[in-house]
Amino acid sequence: NVLTALAPTAYLNAQPIKTRRPHASHKGSYGDVAVIGGAHGMTGAALLAAGAALYAGTGRVFVGLLNDQSVTVDVRHPELMFRPIQSLDFSAMTVVCGCGGGQAVQPVLCDVLSSPAPVVLDADALNVIATDNVLQTELLARCARQAVTVLTPHPLEAARLLGQTAQQVQSDRLTAAQTLAQRFACTVVLKGSGSIIASPDHLPVINPTGNGRLASAGTGDVLAGMVGAELAAGKTGFEAACRAVYRHGALADTWPPGAPLTAQLLVLGGCDTACR
Ligand code: APR
Ligand code: MG
Repeated sequence: NVLTALAPTAYLNAQPIKTRRPHASHKGSYGDVAVIGGAHGMTGAALLAAGAALYAGTGRVFVGLLNDQSVTVDVRHPELMFRPIQSLDFSAMTVVCGCGGGQAVQPVLCDVLSSPAPVVLDADALNVIATDNVLQTELLARCARQAVTVLTPHPLEAARLLGQTAQQVQSDRLTAAQTLAQRFACTVVLKGSGSIIASPDHLPVINPTGNGRLASAGTGDVLAGMVGAELAAGKTGFEAACRAVYRHGALADTWPPGAPLTAQLLVLGGCDTACR
C-alpha cells in the first residue's frame, strides 16, 4: 500500500534537526536572566528585555517589576516567571532597564551592584546612577572587584554619566565610550548609528550592522536582553556586548524591505544569538 511504499523514503530523507546545542544539555546549561524594571508606564521595557533574553536562548528568565505588581503573566511569553523583586536571586545574571527615575529603584540598584553576578545597566538605571554618588561609588567598587558589568547608554545617557551634553558625546563618540569604560572599568556600549563597544582591556569596536529602522522606542530594551542572554551563556562582558550589538543590527539589516520593524517584532524575529 501507499503508506508502506512511502515509509522507507521518508525515513531515508529524514534529517536530524540541526542544533548548536549539545544533546545532553538542559535549561540549567543556558543560564538564568533576571530582568528588573517596568516602572509605572514602562512595563513594556522589562517585557521586551525579558522576551529578548528568552528568544536569545536563556534557560530561565525571571522578571521583577518595580511598580506594576498587577502583571503576573505575559500572555505572549508565558515562559517568563514574574517574582517580587525582593525574592529575585541576584546571583543570576541581571538586566536593569526601564526603571523610571524615582527613588524606588535606589535600594534595588544598591543590591544589584553589590552582587557578584554579571549585570547589564540600561536607560534609567544609568540616569539614576549619574545623579547618585552612593550608587556611583557602588558601581566603581563593583567594577574594581571585576564583577562583569555592561553599561548600554544612548548618547544622552552617556552624556549624563560624563557630565557633558549629548552634542559633545556625539562629536567624539570614540572618546566618550572609552572614557566611560576607563572610568568605571567595565564594558560600555555607546548606542546609535555605529554603536561603539569599549572596554579597558580591548581596542574599541565600531559595530558595522544596524540602520535607522532601529530608531524606534523599545529596541534598546531588546538589546539589553540580548546582552543579558550572552552573559548568561558565559560570555565575557566585551564578547557579550559585541555579539549582541552585531546580531541586533544584523536583524534590522536583513529585515524584509517594507515590513514594519518594531521592538516586539525584533524579539519575535529571533534574537537567537546565544546558544539556540
Ligand atoms: N543606526 C543603527 N542603530 C540604531 C540607529 C541607527 N540609525 N538608531 C537606533 N539604533 C539602535 C541603537 O544603537 C540602540 O541599540 O537602536 C537602539 C535604540 O536604543 P535606545 O536609544 O536606548 O532607545 P529605546 O530604549 O529603545 O527607546 C527610547 O530609551 O533611554 C530610554 O528613556 C528613554 O524611553 C526612552 C527610550
Ligand atoms: Mg533605551
